[in-house]
Amino acid sequence: MHLAARMSRIGESATLKVSRRAAELKASGADVVDFGAGEPDFASPGVAVEAARQALADGFTKYTPTSGIPALRRALAERFARQYGAPWTADQVLVSVGGKGALFEIALALFEEGQEVILHTPTWVSFPEQIRFAGARVVEVPTDGADGFAVHAEKIVGAFTARTRAVILNSPCNPTGGVIAAEDLRAIVAAAAERGIVVIADETYERFVYDGGTAASAAALASAYPETIALVGSFSKTYAMTGWRVGYLLGPPPLVRAAAEIQGHATSNPTSFAMVGALAALAGAEGDIEAMVAEYQARRDLLVPALAALPGVTCQPPKGAFYAFPDVSAHFRGDITDSTSFAERLLEEAHVALVAGAAFGSDRHVRISFACSRHELARGLERLERFLRRN
Ligand SMILES: Cc1ncc(COP(=O)(O)O)c(C=O)c1O
Repeated sequence: MHLAARMSRIGESATLKVSRRAAELKASGADVVDFGAGEPDFASPGVAVEAARQALADGFTKYTPTSGIPALRRALAERFARQYGAPWTADQVLVSVGGKGALFEIALALFEEGQEVILHTPTWVSFPEQIRFAGARVVEVPTDGADGFAVHAEKIVGAFTARTRAVILNSPCNPTGGVIAAEDLRAIVAAAAERGIVVIADETYERFVYDGGTAASAAALASAYPETIALVGSFSKTYAMTGWRVGYLLGPPPLVRAAAEIQGHATSNPTSFAMVGALAALAGAEGDIEAMVAEYQARRDLLVPALAALPGVTCQPPKGAFYAFPDVSAHFRGDITDSTSFAERLLEEAHVALVAGAAFGSDRHVRISFACSRHELARGLERLERFLRRN
């Protein structure tokens, strides 16, 4: 089969590849500890399940407007106005098929051949693929584990050129757990605004911040810089609703309209009754979020010191998201030459699934998701320790 040339610019998501191999092993009867998936292990909020069930029973099963049900668009606009004083109206909200859907539509609507898009690295796997698929070039600005993978404004702004179209900021960050400081966020947005560069803020992990902290949101700057900020969020992680596929974009009208046009020809509306569930979650699942954050905090506090105590492993506590990103490069010897062979050997020999840092642009690290029970964390840590002592 002769596929389109553009297919050479993307490959299979490395995170999905690990999950698939782990699933194969599980299917063959192996007892696998799975640190691979970026998927909450909590049930979706009861209010969301009940609202979606009622919507189905009421026959709310037809096409909706392409951009999503008006009540959810209104509720999202109101939430960002209330919480951050954001200026976005309901018609500046697009409800998308997951946050991923919105990000892909933005890439297609905004990026062109010859343009550059800045990413802080290590970075989530789909950003570079989406940028390249849209024809633009990825410009990497590395962050450093020694200072918590902080994003420094001067480094991002220092990478601006006449070709820069956009900067993608992901805070809290998958895979590093880094959280951008409010001053850095403001400085990047102000500098981008001067040059007509768009700042795409992916705030998918917005609520998962530890030690009582909060994540600065680009929404707080949208009144001052309405042309500059495109905010993407999702119900997937915040509400443990990954399979429902509901995300959103808020931003400048031309961009939101363009993304909606693409959505109209690609997926049409997100699933009707899933949006009703999302609306109920937005209104009534605060308690579920608080319980999840408390549990993630407990898991992080169990996992990270134990990782840091392992021989040849360094790991700073992530400020946010639900991933630890330890440096395991001291164990690269013999036939373990990089993060990929490390992850493969660990999965095949010790039946622990995690994701090689190479997938995110750092070959010294591996990503461990702590979206699994404390019991699983303890089992996985024990196996990891045995593996490291052997290799
Ligand atoms: C940084 C980041 N952005 C966006 C997404 C997309 O999530 P979804 O499409 O489920 O909303 C993910 C999912 O892993 C992510 O890690």
